[in-house]
Amino acid sequence: MRWSWLLPLCLVVLAAAQESDSSEEEATLPLAEPCDPEACKLPNCRCSSTDIPGNLQARDTPQFVLLTFDDAINIINVETYRELLDNRRNINQCPATATFFLSHQYTNYQLVNELYNKGHEIALHSITHSTPQTYWAEGDVELMRREFGDQKELTAHFANIPANSMRGIRMPFLQMAGNSTFEMMSEFDLQYDCSWPTITNINPGLWPYTLDYASTQDCVIPPCPSASVPGKWVLPMVSWRDLNDAPCSMVDSCFGVPSFNDEDAWFRFIVTNFERHYLGNRAPFGFFIHEWYLRTNPAVMRATVRFMDMINNMHDVFMVNANDVIEWVKNPVPVNEYVRRSCRWFTPSTCWPSSCGPLSASHNGIISQYWMQSCAACPVSYPWLNNPLGRNPPPS
Ligand SMILES: *[C@@H]1O[C@H](CO)[C@@H](O)[C@H](O)[C@H]1NC(C)=O
Ligand SMILES: [Zn+2]
Repeated sequence: MRWSWLLPLCLVVLAAAQESDSSEEEATLPLAEPCDPEACKLPNCRCSSTDIPGNLQARDTPQFVLLTFDDAINIINVETYRELLDNRRNINQCPATATFFLSHQYTNYQLVNELYNKGHEIALHSITHSTPQTYWAEGDVELMRREFGDQKELTAHFANIPANSMRGIRMPFLQMAGNSTFEMMSEFDLQYDCSWPTITNINPGLWPYTLDYASTQDCVIPPCPSASVPGKWVLPMVSWRDLNDAPCSMVDSCFGVPSFNDEDAWFRFIVTNFERHYLGNRAPFGFFIHEWYLRTNPAVMRATVRFMDMINNMHDVFMVNANDVIEWVKNPVPVNEYVRRSCRWFTPSTCWPSSCGPLSASHNGIISQYWMQSCAACPVSYPWLNNPLGRNPPPS
């Protein structure tokens, strides 16, 4: 009786809370306007275009080769990474490196630390890598914060690497989520997204650009962003063409490919795709692949090594991290100046590994047990969505 007056009050408070919730959602980002090249200038703004940054001639432009691997890093695939990349150098004697779009489940963080210390880039590919694809297509900003923002903290902690070294993301299944990934990137100080394929802007290839203004890129896996998100970079996945001239954004998604035991044909296939860039406008050449494809096809692996040996001996080709490509685009310099630069410098970060487990996690009500190699003290439960440091008690 005494409290009955409170009930309407609660409803009012509740209604007010709901109102402020929905007005937050209404505070949408502004729609991006057509790009104005006079207003949009480097280093922090670039219109979507196939023009070479800095108005360089193609022959003066470094040809960047961007090798990326996706998903968890474990004791099996790290063997391939070591074989392919250890002691590999570009012509300027700087380490030839790759970018790893890391997903959390089953990742061994001691190995993440190892790859980081070899100069490779660790980037974000979500905590859960959930299916179905609509989970990502319909993902709002809050989901992106928990999948990627929290993954940055998780990875920094368990791999003992600096959070600010993680600058980029790739969406699982390359499934775009409209504006929400880019809005999240602004909040978590992430610089670029490398999830957006182009199949029409491949010859000449599309160079990286920012989302200050409307993108002219073809949207292969909608929804693509249409809001203005200042200073956030799109590193387009310029598709390869397979033997039937069909586009493919990842090498392992090409359909018309040479026979899997024909090393020479695979080498020619790779070089043909490379030359579209090298003999064209030198847009960064993406070699986007999953490790299993190389492991299960030794001739493809040998062709890849041959290709890398070739480009590592070319005076104007450089295998670098995705983030290094963005940094060059922001401040483009001709190749003769680029080769004189000192190599990228970073502080190595030690791992004192612990073997953690069994650790329990609960997803969709199913409890699973995991083992995890960590460079930090063992968590009480398996790190997961909403519990990125594994500090909450294990599910029972
Ligand atoms: C992105 O933001 C713009 C501008 O607010 C809006 O018009 C568009 O519908 C949004 N896209 C998605 C997929 O939500
Ligand atoms: Zn993946």
